[in-house]
Amino acid sequence: MLINLENFSPSRPRGFLVLEGVNGAGKSTLLTKLSERLAQNGKSVVCSREPGATELGKTLRSLILEPKGDKAAPIAELMLFGADRADHVAKVIQPNLQSGRWVISDRYLYSSIAFQGFGRQLPMQAVEAVNTLATSGVLPDLVILLDLDPAEGLRRTQSRSQASAKLGEGDAFEKEALAFHTRIRDGFLKIAASRPEPFLVVDASQSQQDVFSTVWRAVEALLRASAV
Ligand code: TYD
Repeated sequence: MLINLENFSPSRPRGFLVLEGVNGAGKSTLLTKLSERLAQNGKSVVCSREPGATELGKTLRSLILEPKGDKAAPIAELMLFGADRADHVAKVIQPNLQSGRWVISDRYLYSSIAFQGFGRQLPMQAVEAVNTLATSGVLPDLVILLDLDPAEGLRRTQSRSQASAKLGEGDAFEKEALAFHTRIRDGFLKIAASRPEPFLVVDASQSQQDVFSTVWRAVEALLRASAV
């Protein structure tokens, strides 16, 4: 469900935020700024990500993103992300929310719908089934979707690789063709409009400061609602 900043009135938030978007949209910078600002507002914040938040997740992450030898079959890839997510929910997200901490996750179940569903074109029922098992119904209070032309996203990730002399060494997804990333961008926008969770769609071609101030308005509404 797309939210409108003028009338976003969350009820009983637990403090679970998710950042989504195409590669290169600026999620990591936003995550750092958000966690700092939440901490200044007296919140204990756990920054997390998928894949790779737990010990098992780190192993799964390198299996998925840096495959040795042949690539996983698409359905196997979906299930590896699902295994990572199940471990993440059980060991990081649930326990921290229960202890009153805020959790910000760089990617969550929506990435499986966008990348494995729209990108790899796996049947949506399969993606949905894995997500349902993996999340045990733990859903975020807000999903922040950084929307960006995927060509610009790829340019940004390539100039990052160039800066670290790693041009051409992108992970399994960064190496995919532009058409794949375009399906993902369009997929994310469809997900934002059709899922019941609140989605804030932000134009990520703006300056980082403008992106942050829009996002902060939505997060402030959550802070106010969590205080009542
Ligand atoms: P990462 O280096 O974390 O990229 P990013 O900074 O763009 O998040 O790599 C994670 C990659 O895995 C990214 O390309 C998106 C992809 N992915 C999926 O295909 N499905 C998923 O369910 C998740 C969580 C990530």
